Amino acid sequence: MRITETSDMWWKNAVVYCLDVETFLDSDGDGVGDLAGLAQRIDYLAQLGVTCLWLMPFYPSPQRDDGYDVTDMYGVDRRYGDPGHLVEVIRTAHDRGMRVIADLLVNHTSDKHPWFVSARRSTTSRYRDYYVWRDTEPPDTSDQVVFPDKEDSIWELDERTGEWYLHHFYRHQPDLNVANPAVVEEIIRVIEYWLEVGMDGFRVDAVPFFVSDVETGAGQHATDPHRLLEQVRAFLVRRRGDAVLLGEVNLPYADQVRFFGDGEGNQLHMMFDFAAMQATYLSFARGDARPLRDTLARRPEILPTCQWATFLRNHDELTLDQLSEDERQEVFDSFGADPELQLYGRGLRRRLPPMLDGDPRRIRMAYSLVFSLPGSPTLFYGEEIGMGENLDIPGRMSVRSPMQWSSGRNGGFSSAAPSRLPRPVTGDGYAPEHVNVADQTRDPGSLWSCIRSLIWLRRTCPEIGWGRYEAIDVGAHQVFAHRCDLEQAATIALHNLGPDPVVVTLPPTGDDEEVELVDAFDHAHLAAATEPVDITLDGYGYRWLRLRRAGEVIIP
Ligand code: NOJ
Repeated sequence: MRITETSDMWWKNAVVYCLDVETFLDSDGDGVGDLAGLAQRIDYLAQLGVTCLWLMPFYPSPQRDDGYDVTDMYGVDRRYGDPGHLVEVIRTAHDRGMRVIADLLVNHTSDKHPWFVSARRSTTSRYRDYYVWRDTEPPDTSDQVVFPDKEDSIWELDERTGEWYLHHFYRHQPDLNVANPAVVEEIIRVIEYWLEVGMDGFRVDAVPFFVSDVETGAGQHATDPHRLLEQVRAFLVRRRGDAVLLGEVNLPYADQVRFFGDGEGNQLHMMFDFAAMQATYLSFARGDARPLRDTLARRPEILPTCQWATFLRNHDELTLDQLSEDERQEVFDSFGADPELQLYGRGLRRRLPPMLDGDPRRIRMAYSLVFSLPGSPTLFYGEEIGMGENLDIPGRMSVRSPMQWSSGRNGGFSSAAPSRLPRPVTGDGYAPEHVNVADQTRDPGSLWSCIRSLIWLRRTCPEIGWGRYEAIDVGAHQVFAHRCDLEQAATIALHNLGPDPVVVTLPPTGDDEEVELVDAFDHAHLAAATEPVDITLDGYGYRWLRLRRAGEVIIP
């Protein structure tokens, strides 16, 4: 495969970095991160090697759900700067070879959005049908709410018109009625707008919640969210062939895969692999590769024009909802036994390093593993330096503390008084004096340097993004061993999930005698591919190997 044939499908081999402008860097000292601050850090991100920035919501918002409650889908919240600053960020990122995608929030709006303000005024408002209403008392829907700590129904009575509106998330986030063609037109217009501004695609929020099949009292309110995605995709690729839709679809594989567009591949380009993420934590908890291996064995085949986004952590709770109750309890017992560390009975409100007791070997192995899995890896800001959570910040927001740039005031995030920051900086063992960018970028032995070399190595292995995945049995259940192949290129990776050293035997690869195994980091020759080879892995150790054909040069 020639790379020149595929550069418009950059997302097949991307390294995505998610950040919130609000907590990244405050350039004007008002305490709130801003776009001008982010612009100053584009070179940092380029140096790290990420290829795509995912900007969490920057739209005008009353901030009752950290910006996921939007009042103007075309705007930039004044606290972050103005649209010109956003264009500067996008242009600078493009200049450094990075793509930029934004959260697309079309499942719901804020209740302060002018559409909803008008809609709730009267049943005859022209925006009434932008939302979903019922005029009879709803049944018990407490099992369908997403945030059970705050809501007990997906319907909220609106006193003025005496009807109930639908909201799967908070009551201040009414669901849009995507069965209404006028709403679909609005969505398409929003997409068009941001593509013209220069965005390279979208992280599509809350896809499975797009109103599909709701009993409204007046009958079944039915529309097919898959048809909506097909329309959106068709429009997007017509306008910008290389733009991407990366969807948040936390469902079991069999249901999830339908959002790629079944056999057609005409809906979302990419989806986060929540099942593999959850299985990874179970594997870590057990020190046993089998949960992850078995989950990847169940992963549906997808078309070459689709891709998985792999990750260890995102901005929400670390959800474990696809594990069985016993499995979830095992992960809780290992990584967050205290109920204070858990959320909604299904997840954890911690970042990875504190869960792994700060053990550098284990943390590095975890990132090496996720970078070696088939798919495009996604990082949440601060993972590259091993930031911890701040449990003083309520609920899910514990992982959204300010980025830690230096050991200085507010971790170098802002010069403002700490009381003016959107959220407090993390303290104790993960405070900025111990965990920060300035120290780690100067230290070749730091986690940052390790993640940076993993990113750059990953970028030279397109077979991981594009190729065929195969698990390898090396006879030790604590070792996750696999291989990715694409035409002549192949990478083999071995990860020891256990604390003790182990020697495993890698069986002959099935290649001919022209092929040798080399270490992917230093290119040292290991063995001919025709021989079984013993590999020693330290406790939580890992190795990446590449297959090299005689005379082939592997680019460092
Ligand atoms: C999913 C987002 O990831 C989450 O942070 C948000 O609260 C909900 N969607 C509602 O928008």
